[in-house]
Amino acid sequence: MSKSCARILCLATLLFSIASPAFLVAQDFRKQVIYQVITDRFFDGDPANNDPPQSKGLFDPTKTNWQAYWGGDLAGIQAKLAYIKGMGASAIWISPPVDNENLKWAAPDGKPLSYLFAPYHGYAARDFQRIDEHIGSSANDWKAFDDFVAASHALGIKIIVDFSPNDTNLIDTGEHGAIYDNGKFLGTYADDKAALYHHYGTLTDWNNPFQLQYYNVFGLTDLNEDNPIVDDYIKRSITQFQDHGVDAFRIDAVKHITWGWVYSLANTVHTHKSAFVFAEWFLDGFGDKFYSDACKFSNRSGISLLDYPLAIATRSVFAENKSFAEIDHALTAENKSIRDPNDMVTFFDNHDIPRLLSLHNNQNRLNEATAFILMARGIPIVYYGDEQYLHNDTDRGRDPYTRVWMSSYDTDTVGYKLVKKLADLRRSNDALGYGAMQTRSVSPDTFVFERKFANHVVLVAINKSEDKEAEVPGFSTALPAGTYADYLGGLMNGTTMTVDREDSHSLPGRNVRSIKLSPHSVSVWQVARPAIKPEIGSIEPVIGQPGTLVTLSGERLGAKSGTVFVNGVRAHIESWQDTQVIFHVPETASGNSEIQLKDAAKMRAVRVPFTMLEAKLIPVTFSVKNATPLAQGESLYLTGETFGLGKWSNSKDAAAGPLLCPSAEKCLLDVSVPAGRRVQFKLLKMSQDGVMTPESGPIHSYVVPSTGTGSVQIEWQY
Ligand code: NOJ
Ligand code: CA
Repeated sequence: MSKSCARILCLATLLFSIASPAFLVAQDFRKQVIYQVITDRFFDGDPANNDPPQSKGLFDPTKTNWQAYWGGDLAGIQAKLAYIKGMGASAIWISPPVDNENLKWAAPDGKPLSYLFAPYHGYAARDFQRIDEHIGSSANDWKAFDDFVAASHALGIKIIVDFSPNDTNLIDTGEHGAIYDNGKFLGTYADDKAALYHHYGTLTDWNNPFQLQYYNVFGLTDLNEDNPIVDDYIKRSITQFQDHGVDAFRIDAVKHITWGWVYSLANTVHTHKSAFVFAEWFLDGFGDKFYSDACKFSNRSGISLLDYPLAIATRSVFAENKSFAEIDHALTAENKSIRDPNDMVTFFDNHDIPRLLSLHNNQNRLNEATAFILMARGIPIVYYGDEQYLHNDTDRGRDPYTRVWMSSYDTDTVGYKLVKKLADLRRSNDALGYGAMQTRSVSPDTFVFERKFANHVVLVAINKSEDKEAEVPGFSTALPAGTYADYLGGLMNGTTMTVDREDSHSLPGRNVRSIKLSPHSVSVWQVARPAIKPEIGSIEPVIGQPGTLVTLSGERLGAKSGTVFVNGVRAHIESWQDTQVIFHVPETASGNSEIQLKDAAKMRAVRVPFTMLEAKLIPVTFSVKNATPLAQGESLYLTGETFGLGKWSNSKDAAAGPLLCPSAEKCLLDVSVPAGRRVQFKLLKMSQDGVMTPESGPIHSYVVPSTGTGSVQIEWQY
């Protein structure tokens, strides 16, 4: 073949690969089960990278120093993919894989510590463009990462990267926060001519939202994401992971990143390639001071939250023997405040909190909590080793003792078999991934709840009592009349159950007579009947601008291509299957919108909400003078014509804010606004009792840059 011929063929292949739907990877995470792994602690697949030359001496082969590297790596997870797949997990969350600092950490007086202290967890980045030598190779290249992603994808397993744009490494030791862009030195905290970092000092007041976002936390530098160099570097780095096949991101510590900037990060990811994005916003339950800020952030950014309120309730029920009413209350509270609870990412153990078994060493309870999380609404996580009942109770199991070495891969434990059965059910019965959750009966020791999507129903009954059989009084269920065997086949001491008659509006009331539940039991009863009309269970992403690729997943969408409209404007369809439709968002009005899908055969329509953005988002810092002092309890908001500015709303759930006022002279707020547009806006003051008063004077306006970041200064007009 001539060279030019080869080139033409190559071009044709490239064009085909861009245009063909077969190459579109659509992310629908709702039916997934996530397995969270601390890469360094899982399996040593490559001993050659244990003590690499550029960071020698951070490895402890005895595995007795919990702050040192222990040898686990990407090749190790790859070697254990059959184990992970065999358990039914369909996505793996790995700890941050980027190159971490190399130097030994020292005491504040500069002397080397007498013990090793190393970023084996990955949360001390030095180069977001490269892979750390302990988990890949000493070349800091992508080979091991690419091999791992390819091997996982070949088994149908998705990869989630933990990504931490808030900070680099420790300020007072090691590399003193130094950062590199694919090996090129960018700067260091102490000599920061380019203003890559914030320099406000250490976070001390956890109730102060300015400190939360702009101060240093955990001794790590705080990156200044509004600096165009940092903004570009971080966004190039996260999309590079997408180009290496990553399916989803867990964004670390979003409570500490400038909240408004993170909207633009999500927008960058969602418009680069299809990806699921969820974030860690640590919340001390739904009573947390920043709970409504977290919900507003999630509801308007398109980023799902790790469900801390439900995790806290689940831990107190199963480890502290609190009443199931705690779980019920958490679910009710979140139903009111979260746009779509099925998109939340649920868990009860992770690397930052003691394992459940360290709180209460009871394997039955761990199994019950696992069954609950896998059957409840949300996308469930299994924390590595829970299926093997691993725990280390030193210091009551707190960090780092929650990051145990994965010393057992027994596929015969009840935990392993339980996850497998329930993960299979998540795939075969759409009630679990897509359905609403309803409490059917709740008591201190028993919980009966139902999931339902179209004609699919799953009913779950748990009795967590150590020794008492429980009699649950009659209740109603959407399961059709009949006798149901326990789907778990008695794995968790479950029982058979009879439904007397179909529940219907014409015949309301209890259709299950009382049931008896053995102590420490979980029963699962289910039916999976095909839908009779189009049903949408998931939309990803839930927010986007014209051109964004959106995936609708569900049932009976039609074998042949139908139509999709957004706000009545017809969308270009990229691919159409009976369970999944991918389309491009058309040009239409911004704000809260509606997607309408019609099947080709019977022209039956189904509608789902969507948020339209005007254009790609650019983070802009709005600085306001002359607005202070604010009265006691008063706060400041921005409202304007774009979605990010609340579309002229004066409700605190839609207007941007509240602004942060770190000093008497200045207030500020980051808002992500449409690239290249002239945006118009006004300031509002909200009194303690919620009354919004706009400033007087003319409307402000600002032309948003088409790339990078922006800033605008205004004065409150009296
Ligand atoms: C939250 C992570 O989960 C935690 O493990 C880490 O230490 C901090 N963020 C700092 O990056
Ligand atoms: Ca190794």
